[in-house]
Amino acid sequence: MKPIHTLAVGAALAAAVGQANAAEIEVLHWWTSGGEAKAANMLKQKLEAKGHTWKDFAVAGGGGDSAMTVLKSRAISGNPPAVAQIKGPLIQEWGEMGFLGNIDEVAEKENWNAFLPERLAADDKVDGHFAAVPVNIHRINWLWANTEVLEKSGIDTLPKTWDEFFADAKKIREAGFIPLAHGGQPWQDATVFEVVLMGTGGADFYRKAFVDLDPEALTSDTMVESLKTFKKLRGTMDPDIAGRDWNIATSMVISGKAAMQIMGDWAKGEFTAAGLEPGKDYLCEAAPMTEHMFSYNVDSFAMFQVDDEGQHQAQMDLASLILSKDFQATFNKAKGSIPVRMDVPLDDFDPCAKASHEAFLAAQDGGGLVPSLAHGMAVSASVQGAVFDVITNFFNDPDMSAETAAERLASAVRAAS
Ligand code: GAL
Repeated sequence: MKPIHTLAVGAALAAAVGQANAAEIEVLHWWTSGGEAKAANMLKQKLEAKGHTWKDFAVAGGGGDSAMTVLKSRAISGNPPAVAQIKGPLIQEWGEMGFLGNIDEVAEKENWNAFLPERLAADDKVDGHFAAVPVNIHRINWLWANTEVLEKSGIDTLPKTWDEFFADAKKIREAGFIPLAHGGQPWQDATVFEVVLMGTGGADFYRKAFVDLDPEALTSDTMVESLKTFKKLRGTMDPDIAGRDWNIATSMVISGKAAMQIMGDWAKGEFTAAGLEPGKDYLCEAAPMTEHMFSYNVDSFAMFQVDDEGQHQAQMDLASLILSKDFQATFNKAKGSIPVRMDVPLDDFDPCAKASHEAFLAAQDGGGLVPSLAHGMAVSASVQGAVFDVITNFFNDPDMSAETAAERLASAVRAAS
């Protein structure tokens, strides 16, 4: 006879998964830094509490470039995971190739359309059917800063313009710190460039250049000016940026080696995991000149087609728990993002999250809400790759002029479109 406690656990699991069988699903993601791994683990535990098994398929590499390469090779060999972290237009690309399943059943039952912002939900649908579930909303255009380093450098408030930024950087350097922490990887270069472009050109210009891919915008004076400011930022970094991971750059701000970082709010997950308090130990503010803008980056989990009914049920259970109010609150606090459900109370979120939520709503009303190109929300993967190449080459080539880079950007985008 089985011991009583085993029977009790078995009964609890059977109840948790209802009629369907408990199943194992493999989940591909790239959440491997301290704060991210913590957040991913919450999801794993919740799924397992429902009786299913989460087979972890973590591929390290910020921004997910390596994860996407691995996903392609697994799909080509006919063995994709059941669930994969995929974003924006790339979800459509996978859907159109026939790889994704349909989770309308749970979306309809829980009335997702009622609480998800329409524009964001659209990215998770293929031909009008939910094939993926959104998890969060990250804001890209943030400036993070170590308060003590600022104080020691004689700076009271964070810079509001790029001129102020460069003046502050000089003071920080003189006080013996690195002004801007950065990791020299194409997606991080593109993250910083995107933020400079938003501030320099405004939301309409950003959309013309990075959503509509308008050749005139891509070669315009505003583009040239943005490229020049971006290149100038190199002088505010340390000489060892090459290949550095984003979370190592964040740790330079945390430890007080560097003063600031321009990065999406997953950086806050690192500050939080290190036990730092916003407003006291570190500051979060919109990057220079982007106060009324919000470059959004929504993480989603796409559901691949599965034959096994149990696995399909596990996918829907995962989707359901991701969008539960409880999970939205606990997960997003750890991840640094804000809930993708607009009806989750933020009372006990930190001030950066509250500011992010307000900025999101204001940008949505005021036209300042833009999809992040650097994070795969704006254009196809091939155009994004072409932009990354030009931006990174320009950033690392002391001899390339901003005018040449703008011309190259326009022709690379044309070739990739
Ligand atoms: C983004 C992703 C974030 C975070 C970041 C760094 O693309 O949306 O959730 O993981 O990369 O890896």
